[in-house]
Amino acid sequence: MSATAGQGRPAVPESAASRTRISVEGLDKLFKTADGELLAVDNVSFEVKQGEFVALLGPSGCGKSTILNMVAGLLPKTKGAIRIDGDDVVHGKINPKVGYVFQRDTVFPWRTVEANIGYGLEIAGMAKAERAAKVKRAIELAGLAGFDKNFPRMLSGGMRQRVALMRTLIMEPEVLLMDEPFGALDTHTKLEMHKTLLEIWERERQTVLFVTHDLGEALTLSSRIILLSARPGRLKEDFAVTFARPRDAVSLRETAEFGELYSHIWHSLGEEFRRTKAE
Ligand SMILES: Nc1ncnc2c1ncn2[C@@H]1O[C@H](COP(=O)(O)OP(=O)(O)OP(=O)(O)O)[C@@H](O)[C@H]1O
Ligand SMILES: [Mg+2]
Repeated sequence: MSATAGQGRPAVPESAASRTRISVEGLDKLFKTADGELLAVDNVSFEVKQGEFVALLGPSGCGKSTILNMVAGLLPKTKGAIRIDGDDVVHGKINPKVGYVFQRDTVFPWRTVEANIGYGLEIAGMAKAERAAKVKRAIELAGLAGFDKNFPRMLSGGMRQRVALMRTLIMEPEVLLMDEPFGALDTHTKLEMHKTLLEIWERERQTVLFVTHDLGEALTLSSRIILLSARPGRLKEDFAVTFARPRDAVSLRETAEFGELYSHIWHSLGEEFRRTKAE
């Protein structure tokens, strides 16, 4: 397919008119360690609108996971405000509207593919027949048909990560937080995962905040890229990614506009990589 409808980027991002789902304002995180205090996140503010796919991009150690964990309520903030749909995020309180996909696959080794994917629904008390039908659809969507009864040890890393992804998506979270979910995968498997995720997201349009240090991944998937500086994580730049959708994860990378935006952001990201290395 052609991912390139016209040249350049329209001034208005994909979801500019929609309501704000995630709002982060003046966010700081100061860790107290044995060696003293460490400022990990410094005065970060951004918003994610309904149906936006926003990538939080920055070098290793710049505070991406720290920010995501604070947004998820898994980690207390030091300063600032975080709201989801206008409600303050409370540390330790789970928001049923929010789904989280971790960096490493976190599937249960003692559960089969179908039992892993159906876990949340089971906990929520969904009736068996209804659950089975939903799980079956999820398995097909993830390209895992025929592996229903397999245990995670019988799957490849990419397949396990598909299970982890579907286990979260089956709960139909309106807001999806993802922390480098494909970081541990090889390039080919990563592209396969991009295809799967694009297919699902382009249909469902969840509001997504996706952490990555992989610029190609951020450009392939997202509607906006928020670039963070090297530690302490500060907001450096905000880029609209307006390649036409539906996108093809493979051919998109061969387009001129992909290359153009890649070089543009790479320059800025490269400065932060160098700052990280120089520490
Ligand atoms: N619990 C903690 N206690 C002390 N320091 C921490 C803690 N968690 C993270 N840090 C520090 O905060 C900084 C940001 O860490 P964070 O994990 O958010 O980085 P990141 O951007 O997600 O990196 P990566 O891409 O490698 O996952 C790092 O310097 C890290 O050492
Ligand atoms: Mg991280």
